Amino acid sequence: MQGLQIKHLSVKIGENTILDDLNLTVPRGEIHAVMGPNGTGKSTLSYSIMGHPRYEPASGDILLNGESILDLSVDERANAGLFLALQNPVAIPGVTVANFLRTALNAKAKKRDPEAKPIAIPAFRRMLKEKMAALKIDASFAARYVNDGFSGGEKKRLEVLQMAVLEPEIAILDEIDSGLDIDALRIVSEGVNSLVRETGMGVLVITHYQRLLNEIRPDQVHIMMDKRIVRSGGPELALALEERGYDWVREEAVAEG
Ligand SMILES: Nc1ncnc2c1ncn2[C@@H]1O[C@H](COP(=O)(O)OP(=O)(O)OP(=O)(O)O)[C@@H](O)[C@H]1O
Ligand SMILES: [Mg+2]
Repeated sequence: MQGLQIKHLSVKIGENTILDDLNLTVPRGEIHAVMGPNGTGKSTLSYSIMGHPRYEPASGDILLNGESILDLSVDERANAGLFLALQNPVAIPGVTVANFLRTALNAKAKKRDPEAKPIAIPAFRRMLKEKMAALKIDASFAARYVNDGFSGGEKKRLEVLQMAVLEPEIAILDEIDSGLDIDALRIVSEGVNSLVRETGMGVLVITHYQRLLNEIRPDQVHIMMDKRIVRSGGPELALALEERGYDWVREEAVAEG
C-alpha cells in the first residue's frame, strides 16, 4: 500500500504505556485528521512515527509504502518521505531559513540518488520565492535565522513552507492551527490542500478544533482516546465533537468494551 500504516503500535515511557495497540492508515493522496483530549498521546504518536528515540515502539509496526521503517533513524525516515510539522518547532540561531531549506532539499535529493548534484543557488532562490509567495510569506523571511524570534504564527508558516519545498510522501501536522490568525489559517490550509492535490502527498492532521477541518478538508476523522484510536468516520465526526465534546465517545467506547 502507498502511504502510512500503523499496526498495533504500543509505546512505553519507563513503566507508563502512552500508546496502546493503536491502528491507523493514511493512504497517499488522502487527508486524515486525529482529534482527541489533551494528554491522550497524539504528539507521542507523531514522534514515534518520526523515530524519536524516546518514543520507540514496545510492539507493533509502522510501515511507509508497505515497508517497515522501525529500523530507520529520524534522518532516514525524513529522506524516505516522512515529514513532521512540530507542535513546538525549535529555533536554530545562525542558520538562515534559505540555507536550512536548501540543505534539507539537497540531503533528500542525495539520498534518493547518490549522484544527484546540489540544486544551483539561483534555481533554488527562484523556487523558494515562488513557494513563499504562494504561502504569502514575506520575502525577508528567507534571510532570517530559523525560528529565532519568530512569532507563533511565523513558526507554523515556516513548517508549511518547509513541507512545500521538500514535498514529502506523508506529512504529519501537529496542531498546525495553534497560534495562527484567521487569514494565516486559511493560507496555510490552502497550501496543504494544494500540495495534496498536486503531489499526491498524504496528510495526518492533529487538531483540537473542527474549524481547521473546514479549511483542510479531511477524508476521514479519527478520534483518539485513552491511548488508541477509538472511532473513525467522515468529517461529520468532527462536527459531533464540536457540539457534544468527548464524553459520549468515551461512554460508547466503554459500552462496546
Ligand atoms: N518524554 C515523556 N516523558 C514522560 N511522559 C511523557 C513524555 N512524553 C509524553 N508523555 C506523557 O504521555 C502522555 C501523552 O502526551 P502527548 O503529548 O502525546 O499528548 P497529546 O495528545 O499530544 O496532548 P495535547 O493535546 O495536550 O497536545 C501525557 O500523559 C504525557 O505526560
Ligand atoms: Mg500534543
